[in-house]
Amino acid sequence: MEGVTEPCFRDLVLARNPPDVLGGAFTEFARVVQVPLARSSLREHLGPRRWPAPVGLQLMGSDADLMAESARRAVEVGAPLVDLNFGCPAKGALKTCAGSALLREPRRVEELVRACAEALVDRPLTAKIRAGFDDDLLLEDLARAAEAGGASMLTVHCRTRAEGYQEAVDWSRLARAAASVSIPVCGNGGVRVHADLERLRRETGCRYSMVGRAALGDPWIFGGVRVRAAEAARFLVEYAEALAASGGFRRLGVAGRVKQLAQFWSAGGLICGERASWLREGDPDRLLARLNELAGGAYEIPRRSAAAVHTNDR
Ligand SMILES: Cc1cc2nc3c(=O)[nH]c(=O)nc-3n(C[C@H](O)[C@H](O)[C@H](O)COP(=O)(O)O)c2cc1C
Repeated sequence: MEGVTEPCFRDLVLARNPPDVLGGAFTEFARVVQVPLARSSLREHLGPRRWPAPVGLQLMGSDADLMAESARRAVEVGAPLVDLNFGCPAKGALKTCAGSALLREPRRVEELVRACAEALVDRPLTAKIRAGFDDDLLLEDLARAAEAGGASMLTVHCRTRAEGYQEAVDWSRLARAAASVSIPVCGNGGVRVHADLERLRRETGCRYSMVGRAALGDPWIFGGVRVRAAEAARFLVEYAEALAASGGFRRLGVAGRVKQLAQFWSAGGLICGERASWLREGDPDRLLARLNELAGGAYEIPRRSAAAVHTNDR
């Protein structure tokens, strides 16, 4: 998830979930515009660590040649598979006719998938769509387009672009997508608790299920493990440590990222009853000290000088 599931977060999640529990993950999208993505940028998306579960590198763009070359480079720098994003509803994506903009044109979805699948040769190319742009009338056409283009797996987020991230979900769309292709389909949208993962597969015929926002609040959702407050706090402190150690964040940026997770956090019963006070805390040192205390006080979150910081601060 863009702006959240960068390597620091993802690695902590993968470290806590063996591959039989969490079968794989994807990077946040890497946008391809005007030129193929630089290898350094692709490396940054993948992060330094490798896990038994594959981490697919997700690309988003609309130019088949640029996307194919970026996909080739992604494999060159170590991506075990590449995923194409046809779901992002953001204005920036729509302006460049990428992401969900392509949901109106199954033919272009097929073209982009084919160009990238052919570029990869010996690594899988997967695709992720939403149920449609304004409505779900093209859902089966989109699924078949991805399959015809050579996708090895299709992830379907069951909401349309117009539905954004609304609460209500219609999983019958996932069943329709799964019934229309013979490649495996991964169903996504509205998984809130561990039991939903299996329920989604059972009710839709999807081979796999994917968690989005619920994993931001409970990194143990994949295995249904209920952790204690201290363990949950340890995750957040380790996250803060990893962000600080990455050199890309000042202390304020680290606290901002932690607060971003705090919006969703449910694991260990931590934060739930006091979410407003966690989100209101403006002093990063106090925020991190509060977490550290809950975690057992074992951590030292390094301070970074401004000179060591580059652009990721948000
Ligand atoms: C902040 C945010 C960033 C996201 N970034 C991406 C992304 O980079 N690539 C992608 O395929 N989906 C992205 N998504 C969509 C999620 O992967 C997922 O499809 C969506 O949230 C629906 O699943 P959920 O109901 O389980 O959250 C993002 C969602 C959110 C809320």
